[in-house]
Amino acid sequence: MTYIYDSIIVGGGVIGGSIAFHLARRGKKVLLLEKNVLAGESSRAAAGMLGAQAELESSSPLFPLAKKSREMFPNIAAALKELSGMDIELVNKGMFKVALNDEQAEELKRKVEIHRSHGEQADWLSAEDVKNHEPLLSHSVLGAMFLPKDGQVSAHRLSLAFFSAAAVLGAEVKEFAAVHTFLIEKDRVNGVRTNCGDYFSENVIVASGAWSAELLKDFGMVLDTYPVKGECFSVVTTRPLLEKTIFAKGCYLVPKAGGRTIVGATEHPHTFNKKVSVAGVFSLMDKARRIVPSIVDSELECTWAGIRPQTGDGLPYLGEHPKYRGLFIAAGHFRNGILLSPITGELAAQWADGQAVPELEPFRVDRSFPSFIT
Ligand code: FAD
Ligand code: GLY
Repeated sequence: MTYIYDSIIVGGGVIGGSIAFHLARRGKKVLLLEKNVLAGESSRAAAGMLGAQAELESSSPLFPLAKKSREMFPNIAAALKELSGMDIELVNKGMFKVALNDEQAEELKRKVEIHRSHGEQADWLSAEDVKNHEPLLSHSVLGAMFLPKDGQVSAHRLSLAFFSAAAVLGAEVKEFAAVHTFLIEKDRVNGVRTNCGDYFSENVIVASGAWSAELLKDFGMVLDTYPVKGECFSVVTTRPLLEKTIFAKGCYLVPKAGGRTIVGATEHPHTFNKKVSVAGVFSLMDKARRIVPSIVDSELECTWAGIRPQTGDGLPYLGEHPKYRGLFIAAGHFRNGILLSPITGELAAQWADGQAVPELEPFRVDRSFPSFIT
């Protein structure tokens, strides 16, 4: 059979978009299929923090990848701007992880030392020092760990810029194209069946976020993934409330362009229901008010929810199906898919190009729980 596509990507979120972009940049002929609209799920809901140090333990196997990915952003931003004309609104001003009680302060001070012992940048700032940077913070803030390298982007713009740049480089991107099943010949994949016909390739990459397990379950694999709903709200003010992202236990505030501030996010496991609850928004507003009291005077812009793709051991699945050659899975990025999108795209593209990728070893799809039906 002659294959038109070098790779087919299933899923139009930030992960599928980044893989499409990185493959197209290598001159590969790519087809990306999205069952609904591009970046309509988790990748739209995300606050866009690049919290390698704020979100991950330095002992996690994901940490080296997260750091590399964070470092890729300036070049990615420039390449996407050049190809798509879109600004992903990369902000590199660092993040304050704040303490609201003595116990949190002690824990954050310990974390500063751990980061430093691994050669990472982190500082402990007193309440007064943090308030000098962010005058609207309340007296409840007892101090903060400053992480100068943890930045942020617009998650939605980043996702759309990946698709747009991939398309400029020759990728085909189809919306409202739902993949129903994989086409298998002997022990290898050779295409997908969708609501709008069959498409053929010896290389199919599943980047379907929280929906990946459902798609794979008839193919000898039970992926240990589950959805985690996250609710957010945003406010608008004439003058920005904050200069830097503020990250606290159970609540973060991320200053965006145009005087917007995103406040997130709740965590409700095991539901695909994206309804925003009063309880969820109320708890976030209450936490945000304790950190920045004047937020109560700002205009409420909107509320939303998204479904994070979580895995049993907290690590994403990045690897080839052990039974069907050519079927690759890139899913389960949980709270950090925006941060991890550049490195995931780069490594998945190396794999699809036939290269050995040792960095993917800790993320093998058959690493622990997944059971295989023979
Ligand atoms: P998704 O964005 O969910 O995309 C998967 C796509 O696959 C969907 O568009 C879906 O329609 C499509 N699909 C599914 N099944 C099929 C099929 N059969 N055929 C075709 N298409 C299909 N991460 C960060 O790094 N920083 C943050 O600050 C951050 N904040 C977050 C805040 C919230 C409230 C939430 C919910 C998440 C946040 N995240 C953040 C996490 C991040 O959003 C996710 O890790 C990331 O978006 C996952 O991307 P994805 O492409 O795997 O999944
Ligand atoms: N990383 C932020 C969130 O998932 O809510």
